Amino acid sequence: MTPAPSASPFLPTVLAGKIAIVTGGGSGICYEITKQLLLHGCTAAIICGRRESFLQKASIALSSQSGKTCLYKVCDVRDPDACKSVVDFAIQNFGRVDILVNGAAGNFLAEAKNLSPKGFRTVMEIDALGTYNMSHSVYPAMAKTSSGEGNGGIIINVSMTLHYGATWYQAHASAAKSAIDSLTRTLALEWGCDGIRVNGIAPGPIADTPGTTKLAPGFSKADIEDLITERIPLGRLGTAFDIAMAAVFLACDGSGSYISGDVLVVDGAEWLYKPPM
Ligand code: HXC
Repeated sequence: MTPAPSASPFLPTVLAGKIAIVTGGGSGICYEITKQLLLHGCTAAIICGRRESFLQKASIALSSQSGKTCLYKVCDVRDPDACKSVVDFAIQNFGRVDILVNGAAGNFLAEAKNLSPKGFRTVMEIDALGTYNMSHSVYPAMAKTSSGEGNGGIIINVSMTLHYGATWYQAHASAAKSAIDSLTRTLALEWGCDGIRVNGIAPGPIADTPGTTKLAPGFSKADIEDLITERIPLGRLGTAFDIAMAAVFLACDGSGSYISGDVLVVDGAEWLYKPPM
């Protein structure tokens, strides 16, 4: 088993001068993505989510860990006006937006027969509609059209591998992530000529995140992680740092400049797993 890396292979200036918005950046994977975008040169980041107390603490910690500016804006991505106000806030403070990471997600385990229509709709709205709302809001700020003010940019949609096959208890999240991957491809097609690249990242199970530990209530965290690891060809759980490095790779003009419409699977080959005959 190769140990998880903890040092970046990228220069700390690869994203110099860029301004990022990260939805869901107050915790988990998207916290680490925000941190690494800042540590790799972004001038500033704006994190958004629904809970102000989380965002406030996270923005202070991210500013101190990176030595850069991290601001926050409370935003429920289901509300298009709230999404637009995040982009306005970025323009007022920094004059531009170069990177949007759509990471806000809702999830819980429920068998389809017990899942209420409202529960299904809630996750669809946070994940899929939220990704659309934020992308649609940022387009005028990024687009290099004849009337647009933008410099181009990149949108990174955080998805999953749940829907490549089928995943128990995840009818809602699988449908939502499938919609996000579809949106990634369509927006890449339509917005490429405006200088906007649109890509996805599909993480596998990530250590130390609520999403992974809630998979099997009643089991210890160590037991859950052992069970999952048996099904990962690369022999370890992913880390938030693994996902953040994929985001830096895609965001960087040097490594990502000709990549658009793709969903990068970062899961140690977990979704391909089949036991030996
Ligand atoms: C069944 C549930 C439920 C649960 C919510 N609902 N939680 N149904 N089991 N555990 C249903 C409610 O009953 C309600 O329908 C509807 O969803 C809306 O619930 P609300 O609580 O009113 O909505 P809201 O406040 O908007 O919050 C919904 C939520 C929340 C966002 C999904 O539960 C939440 O914050 N969850 C945590 C988010 C999270 O973990 N994100 C990490 C994603 S990472 P009714 O009909 O009853 O009114 C990830 C990786 C996991 O996903 C990998 C797993 C394979």
